[in-house]
Amino acid sequence: MRPRVLIPAERIAARVRGLGTAIARDLAGGRDAPLLLLALLDGGFCFVADLARALPLPDVEIGFLRTSSYRGGTRSTGVVEREPVPAVAGRSVLIVDDILDTGRTLAAVRGDLTRAGAAAVRACVLLDKPARRIDPDGRADYVGFTIPDVFVIGYGLDHAGRFRHLPDLCVLDDG
Ligand code: IMP
Ligand code: MG
Repeated sequence: MRPRVLIPAERIAARVRGLGTAIARDLAGGRDAPLLLLALLDGGFCFVADLARALPLPDVEIGFLRTSSYRGGTRSTGVVEREPVPAVAGRSVLIVDDILDTGRTLAAVRGDLTRAGAAAVRACVLLDKPARRIDPDGRADYVGFTIPDVFVIGYGLDHAGRFRHLPDLCVLDDG
């Protein structure tokens, strides 16, 4: 299997800067508590690291939540395993994930945060694959790139734990 570049690192960097500007303009945080970026692991680790540093805001909190809906393959299992969300009562939360696929992950985490009393829950994903959407509650307020139904790796996204280190977003070709 050979990675073929879909979106090069320079285009990702430019788009992340644009997202940071838009998010900072819209979500400066409340008077009492800063905006909480809740990054979904493992796939969101590259994206949140770059997005957080692209936010021109004086105060931001970053938290991490491990979620999993894939077991080594390239198709979602349909069950979203996830850790309990942190204490977010009254907080403005931005979920940060690598990719919006069936929508089940974002729908599940959004529901957990709402039940935990968050004042506002929004989501930012680097990639959106609308062709694969199953759960309409899995929607994102900020999207980096909309892509067709291909399996992508790199910039944090993996195939069976591999290829997360690639700086470009790539598609796996056979051969
Ligand atoms: P959803 O719950 O189906 O929306 O899936 C979201 C999660 O599935 C993402 O956070 C990714 O971890 C994973 N995922 C979905 N599509 C891909 C892909 O093309 N490559 C790698 N991981 C993916
Ligand atoms: Mg993920």
